Amino acid sequence: MENEELNWRLRVFDSLSYPTLIIKPDYTLESANRRFFEIFGQRAEEIKGEKCYQFFYGTENPCNSKNCPLVRVLHTKQGYTLPWRNKDRWEDRVFSPILDDDGEVAYIIESIRDVTRIKKLESELSGIKELISRVVHSSASAIIAADKKGGMQLMNPAAKELFKVGDNARHIKNAEQLYPPGKAKEIMSMLRDENTGGKGKLSGIRTNIVAADGEEITVELSAAIIYDDDDNESATMAIYNDLRKKLEIEKQLKEAQKQLAQSEKMASLGQLAAGVAHEINNPLTGILMYAGMIMEHLDENSQLRRDIECIIEDANRCREIVKSLLAYSRSSDSKRSIIHVNDLVEQSFKLTRDQKIFRNIHIEKQLSEEMMLLNVDTNKLSQVIINLVINAADAMDGEGRLTVRTCRDKSAQKIFLEISDTGYGISEENLSKIFDPFFSTKPRGKSTGLGLSIAYGIVEEHGGRISVKETGPGGTTFLLELPQYIPAEE
Ligand SMILES: Nc1ncnc2c1ncn2[C@@H]1O[C@H](COP(=O)(O)OP(=O)(O)O)[C@@H](O)[C@H]1O
Ligand SMILES: [Mg+2]
Repeated sequence: MENEELNWRLRVFDSLSYPTLIIKPDYTLESANRRFFEIFGQRAEEIKGEKCYQFFYGTENPCNSKNCPLVRVLHTKQGYTLPWRNKDRWEDRVFSPILDDDGEVAYIIESIRDVTRIKKLESELSGIKELISRVVHSSASAIIAADKKGGMQLMNPAAKELFKVGDNARHIKNAEQLYPPGKAKEIMSMLRDENTGGKGKLSGIRTNIVAADGEEITVELSAAIIYDDDDNESATMAIYNDLRKKLEIEKQLKEAQKQLAQSEKMASLGQLAAGVAHEINNPLTGILMYAGMIMEHLDENSQLRRDIECIIEDANRCREIVKSLLAYSRSSDSKRSIIHVNDLVEQSFKLTRDQKIFRNIHIEKQLSEEMMLLNVDTNKLSQVIINLVINAADAMDGEGRLTVRTCRDKSAQKIFLEISDTGYGISEENLSKIFDPFFSTKPRGKSTGLGLSIAYGIVEEHGGRISVKETGPGGTTFLLELPQYIPAEE
């Protein structure tokens, strides 16, 4: 019976698929299993009685090293694993004590396990980890990861830059700090909601983040919850793309589209106006001529004569309008010359100086001394300035302060001319219509509503812009932007 038991144990020992050796506490080799002999090419008789240091190192004395696994196991009476490298082969040498009835180490079993495959996988994995961490590190998108409670776990350099935390990201106690109040919670609940992008994922939503200096920055956010193997939330990660530049371009594009729409409108209205003006011009000449002839036959004091005078007055008015319309549409023939913007201002103001409406208006000139040359049709641009100045005086009812300012943007090579008044301002509703031909809020007969539309056409023809910079109950500022003339260098 006992023999059978022993046989059985020996068979188990021999069937172990990894080489295994039994060593006595005095370092004598006791026995080894079949696999051991297969690998080391020796027979049982040859190793029995040999010391481990003789067998493994070919020395006659124990190494007495503190690191000797046998010494450790004898001392601790616990198993010990020694990682071992043999050329391309990685081994785990596992030493386990066999204790006798008194709890003393009777034998030590040494199993040699080939872990080369696992080691290779491990090194591949660490290579992949390393690669991922490099990818994250060098990504142009800002990437962060936070644990379940919001504690920051990762912030790549792009994120540090976006959030302006410098190299010290430690003062960020919680991911909530990175968003405006309440936003982080909102994002988390969106992440958990199946209806917004899929469970645990959000992609490309526009939101604001808060940088360390308090600036709110609009970004595009993609985020994900990271689940562990048991499907529990273990962390969250987010990728941000700064949208500031994109938004700025979008804004400029919108502005350009608005401008384009306005100039298209003006161009087609201009053509129409020119056509109408031509058609009206001839009959007007007839009306004026016949009215003049009738008048010659009428008494000084007759009622009819006063009626005819009204006809002539109105017809003359029509003629004025037709004249402006033609000026407005006949913009191609212009005579350009080079003039300092301040001289242009002085010239234009001279033409308005004697008008009654300016008597109670204080005119303030803030003209920059810089070199600000224009290459323009001075007559036409004077007309623009005069239109703006008369509008300003109208808006102030002849009483207030009119300021004219000139300056330039050197790098953009632009010259600015501003005309501000302290008048009643322009209502939100009218703001989009003031440049339309015939739009006027002034009493009929007093004005044509053509001033600003003509100004618009002229400024555009010069590659410039005219716009309302500011308006409100306190007054209005019109802004003219014109390209600066840069004389060619010798
Ligand atoms: N400086 C200003 N302040 C207030 N409203 C203005 C000003 N300039 C222009 N507007 C408004 O724009 C309208 C159109 O101006 P404009 O084309 O010059 O025609 P008009 O002066 O003949 O009415 C004006 O009727 C007025 O309502
Ligand atoms: Mg006007």
